[in-house]
Amino acid sequence: MQAFAKAHPNIALIKYWGKRDTAKNLPAVDSLSLTLGDLWTNMNVHFSSSYSRDQLEINNIADDQNISRVSRCLDSIVGKSRPFANIISECNFPIAAGLASSSSSFSALVVAANNAIGNKYDTQLLASQAGSASGSAARSMLGGIVELNNTQNDIEIKQLSSVERWPLKVIIAITNKEKKSISSSQAMKLSASSSPFYSSWINNQEADMSEGRLAIKNKDFERLAAVSEHNCLKMHSVMWTTRPSVIYWNEASLNCMHAIREMQKTGEAVFFTMDAGPQIKAVCLPENEAKIAQRLSEIKGVVCVMKSKLGYAPISRVIK
Ligand code: PMV
Repeated sequence: MQAFAKAHPNIALIKYWGKRDTAKNLPAVDSLSLTLGDLWTNMNVHFSSSYSRDQLEINNIADDQNISRVSRCLDSIVGKSRPFANIISECNFPIAAGLASSSSSFSALVVAANNAIGNKYDTQLLASQAGSASGSAARSMLGGIVELNNTQNDIEIKQLSSVERWPLKVIIAITNKEKKSISSSQAMKLSASSSPFYSSWINNQEADMSEGRLAIKNKDFERLAAVSEHNCLKMHSVMWTTRPSVIYWNEASLNCMHAIREMQKTGEAVFFTMDAGPQIKAVCLPENEAKIAQRLSEIKGVVCVMKSKLGYAPISRVIK
């Protein structure tokens, strides 16, 4: 019982922030994201009666911090009376730094585990299980542009646009590779209980989702840019007004935002978004990619720039 999977992280344009059910880890709002093809997590999952406990290795280092979350996720696919597993994970981008490494990790984990037991479950079920471990991971189960909807007791994912239909590009300006100071789950909990803007954030999300869907349907870049930046800044306003405040930005993140606003004024098709970490993601049309990457790399405090095309759903194979 051994399988390999490769999955890509995703970044939300219409964000998820807040949970409607903490125990099941169900999001409080629908969301919409881009799957990033040039960033990946490779995962090997090997179940064997020869192991005396679950073991996890991330980028060649044994990891005891995340093992209980990983074990719970494996239980949800394989059952609690399964053999122990050896899990080897490799990621080509900074972990827990606001680049959604948990989205590629948990989607790769559920896909590999499912393949190891003979592909019992479909994509929707796997998305639910990945989502129970990390809300954003459910969206990494599909490629291109993806929507996540809340259903009565669960979630549902669907692809809004394939990679080929609208091949957007994403430039990631890394401004700090350190792990974030507070996890998104902890921060969301604090936001729900203390930000005076939280309820308005929840109540306005559907309007942003409709706007985002329409922009994607019509491949209207300006419209997608406007709603995505607005939604991102609303989520960060909720974070900033949480008690104690949750501030993931640094000076370089703000400098990048200003630079992107300047480029917009000179006609570049680009917009920014930012998650639970100080990295800026600039979404653009292919023809603008080189110029925007160059400009962002020149900004004070930007450590490096990564470029990504949109990516596909996870791939997996059984290892004999
Ligand atoms: O998947 P989590 O629990 O790490 O939460 C991610 C939340 C944001 O990245 C900030 C927004 C989103 O929709 O991905």
